[in-house]
Amino acid sequence: MEDIWQSAMDHAVAVARKAGQVVREAAGVVRADAVMVKSSPIDLVTQTDQQVEKLIIGALKSQFPTHCFIGEESVSAGDDCSLTCAPTWIIDPIDGTTNFVHTFPFVAVSIGFAVDKQVEFGVVYSCLRDEMFTARRGKGAFCDGRPLRVSPRKDIRQAVVATEFGSNRDAAALDKIFASLRRVVDIPVHGVRGAGSAAINMCLVASGCVEAYYEIGIHVWDVAAGSLIVSEAGGVLMDVQGGPLDLMSRRVLATNNRNIAERLVREIDAFSVRRDDDHASS
Ligand code: IPD
Ligand code: CA
Repeated sequence: MEDIWQSAMDHAVAVARKAGQVVREAAGVVRADAVMVKSSPIDLVTQTDQQVEKLIIGALKSQFPTHCFIGEESVSAGDDCSLTCAPTWIIDPIDGTTNFVHTFPFVAVSIGFAVDKQVEFGVVYSCLRDEMFTARRGKGAFCDGRPLRVSPRKDIRQAVVATEFGSNRDAAALDKIFASLRRVVDIPVHGVRGAGSAAINMCLVASGCVEAYYEIGIHVWDVAAGSLIVSEAGGVLMDVQGGPLDLMSRRVLATNNRNIAERLVREIDAFSVRRDDDHASS
C-alpha cells in the first residue's frame, strides 16, 4: 500500500528543525519579565512559545489546509481541543518551557499526526541537543536515523523511572504524587529522574536510557508524538491504572515492557484531572 503520509512526515521533520532553530536561538536570552504564566504560577509561557506555534501551524497549514490542528498555545487562546477521526496535527511548540527559560538542556518541539484518532507519525526535536527523534506507525523509531530500542531490563529493581511533578500544586494531587513517588523509590528502583519535558522523557524510554516514565497532568500535545516513538521502539503504553492509553485523559505510563508497566500501575496512586477534551465551562 502506498505510504500516503510519508511526505507529510518529511515536511513535519523540516518544520520541526526550523522551529527548533528559533527556540535554540531564543534560549538563554529570555528576559525574566518576558515570562508569563497560564494555569498556575509555575505553568510558564513565553513569546517564543507563541511565535513558534504560529510558525509551525502556518507551515503545516500551507501544505495541508484541510487538516485539523491542536496546538498548546492555540488551545490556551481558546481554540477547540477535540481529537476527531479527521487528519489532525498535535503540536507543542516548546515542550519544557521551564527548561527553556532556565536553559536546562531538555527542550523539545513536538509534532504528532493522527488519523482516526491513531498516531501515524511523531516527531520530537530535542532542539538544544540537536537530536531528531521520529517514528512512523509500523516502521520503527529513530534518532537522527539510528534505530531506537527500549531497554531489555526486566527487573523493576534495576529500573530507572522518569516522572515529573507537573504544574499542579493542588494539595490533594501533590499528596498522591508524593505517595506514588515514595512507593516507587521504596521498591527500590535504581533511580528516579525527570528531564522536565514529557516528550523527551518518552524519547528516553524509547532510547533505553530509562525503563519507564509516568505522569498525571500532561496534555495531549506533550505525549502524542512521543507515544508512537515509544511503541515503535518496542515499548508499552498504558493508562496509570492499567488499560489502554487515552491521549486526552492527561495521564500516561510508558515503559520498556509489560511487567514493569504492571508493577508501576500497582504503585501509582492515580487520580483524575480534567480531560483535554472536556468542554464543560469551568
Ligand atoms: C510540560 C513538560 C513537563 C511536564 C508538564 C508539561 P510544557 O510541558 O512536559 O515535563 O511535567 O506536565 O505540561 O508546559 O513545558 O509544554
Ligand atoms: Ca509547551
